[in-house]
Amino acid sequence: MQVDEAIRSRKSVRSFLPTPVPQSVVRHILELAARAPSGNNVQAWRVHVVTGNALRVLGEAMRAEARDHTQSCIPEYSYYPDQWVEPYLSRRRQCGYSLYEVLGIDRQDMAGRQRQMLRNFTFFDAPVGIMVTTDRRLNTGSFMDLGMFLQNIMLAARGQGLHTCPQAAFADLHHIVRQHLELGDEEILACGVSLGFEDEGARENALQMPREPVDAFARFYS
Ligand SMILES: Cc1cc2nc3c(=O)[nH]c(=O)nc-3n(C[C@H](O)[C@H](O)[C@H](O)COP(=O)(O)O)c2cc1C
Repeated sequence: MQVDEAIRSRKSVRSFLPTPVPQSVVRHILELAARAPSGNNVQAWRVHVVTGNALRVLGEAMRAEARDHTQSCIPEYSYYPDQWVEPYLSRRRQCGYSLYEVLGIDRQDMAGRQRQMLRNFTFFDAPVGIMVTTDRRLNTGSFMDLGMFLQNIMLAARGQGLHTCPQAAFADLHHIVRQHLELGDEEILACGVSLGFEDEGARENALQMPREPVDAFARFYS
């Protein structure tokens, strides 16, 4: 697959088929992902790949915690600001609303929105969950490296005909993840990735999130 095509065809998939993904394919994706650059080549990423029964058990535990104990769901790092400002606030709202709209969930339907949100924790039915951590003894720069590693996972997945959803939502559930997977004390759960084959008939997968044109974010000097 050409790089342009892999980039253009990547999207966040929120409904997967149960079709399993062989471990050899996941290994191949991770091997490619680890070609990501990192400052001083520190390669501060760690992954925990979860499938089968372990995935089901972890998914149910996270879902139950997110549903019943929201006050315990505090991430170890701040992805988002406390105070949103424009233009990010509007984009964020548009992101949420377009998902609910494509699914036919009314804005006022809090139970419906909650049900959809909770699907994050059961990996949108994907057969593979990848928990991505970094080392808390490093600094914020390592999050850049992690982003490149994550993007490589998502693009390498396209090369295998697979799709992904990056999910920072898991960061809120690090205390549950720690009960099920062997994370070292120094590991900070940054993000998860659901991986599998897209359910092409699912309405949420038809979502195409817009982007600003180049001239809105780039200036050229000569
Ligand atoms: C680091 C990261 C974390 C994200 N976390 C979530 C998440 O927890 N749940 C979710 O449904 N989407 C999540 N997303 C997906 C974004 O909503 C999505 O990338 C954005 O709306 C653009 O859509 P696209 O990925 O289809 O191009 C995340 C994306 C990134 C990069």
